[in-house]
Amino acid sequence: MPPFKEKTVLITGATGNLGKAVACAFDALGTRLVLVGSRFETLDAAYPSLKPHHLKLAADLTDKAAAARVVAEAGQTSGRIDAICAIAGGFHAGKPVHETAPADWDRIMEMNVSTMLNVVSPAIPGMIARKAGKIVTVGANSAAKGAANTGAYIASKSTVMRLTESMSAELRQYAINVNCVLPSTIDTPENRQAMPKADPARWVKPEDLAAVIVFLCSENAVAMHGALVPVVGLS
Ligand SMILES: NC(=O)c1ccc[n+]([C@@H]2O[C@H](COP(=O)([O-])OP(=O)(O)OC[C@H]3O[C@@H](n4cnc5c(N)ncnc54)[C@H](OP(=O)(O)O)[C@@H]3O)[C@@H](O)[C@H]2O)c1
Repeated sequence: MPPFKEKTVLITGATGNLGKAVACAFDALGTRLVLVGSRFETLDAAYPSLKPHHLKLAADLTDKAAAARVVAEAGQTSGRIDAICAIAGGFHAGKPVHETAPADWDRIMEMNVSTMLNVVSPAIPGMIARKAGKIVTVGANSAAKGAANTGAYIASKSTVMRLTESMSAELRQYAINVNCVLPSTIDTPENRQAMPKADPARWVKPEDLAAVIVFLCSENAVAMHGALVPVVGLS
């Protein structure tokens, strides 16, 4: 694995299950981390102590201006952002498509699409100027196809996946790699609680998914552009 020591990686969703695993994996490689959560309370709970070269920043990333401030502060403090892992997002089982209220469409699109776009958009001009950068987004393996009562979620993750491909097509000429991981069910405490009869050994461990994300941020993945990478374990 090429060195990450001199690199700055910004991780959204850093307080969540996957974000913590990704932060842990990069920390082990000596990477400088910008850890972004929605609130300082959740950041402090997830990272009660932090090495001095890391940074915690809080913002509601559905707020475009707040997300831009996070990117600006990260860039000023660290000099540059080498990679973004846009992990913030979530799941809501919904109603049938025809019963989904406009506010519910907006909420899930904001949670999964705006949180990604609002962070990557202000960071991309700096990456273009340096002709270098890595962006990893998080779709969902289940979003390959529509399914009952999850239409809004699937639409939001499908949007992330299509935008990843579009950004990749726009940015690969600047040596910026934009790729997406497609997890199936991640082995999280929340999923174990929600699906007590399922076998979590078949799910994806956060640390295994984190290893794929680290790879996509590495120079080993320099030829990968617009890949939607299923990471599904045995599920
Ligand atoms: N879990 C699964 O089985 C599964 C399957 C497929 C895809 N995914 C995707 O994988 C990613 C990580 O999943 P996870 O299980 O690690 O999720 P999680 O534990 O619920 O963490 C979600 C993270 O997103 C952040 N976040 C949510 N809304 C935000 C907002 N408006 N502004 C800033 N941050 C916000 C949360 O921050 P705070 O805690 O600070 O609020 C938290 O860090 C998500 O994109 C999810 O959709 C998960």
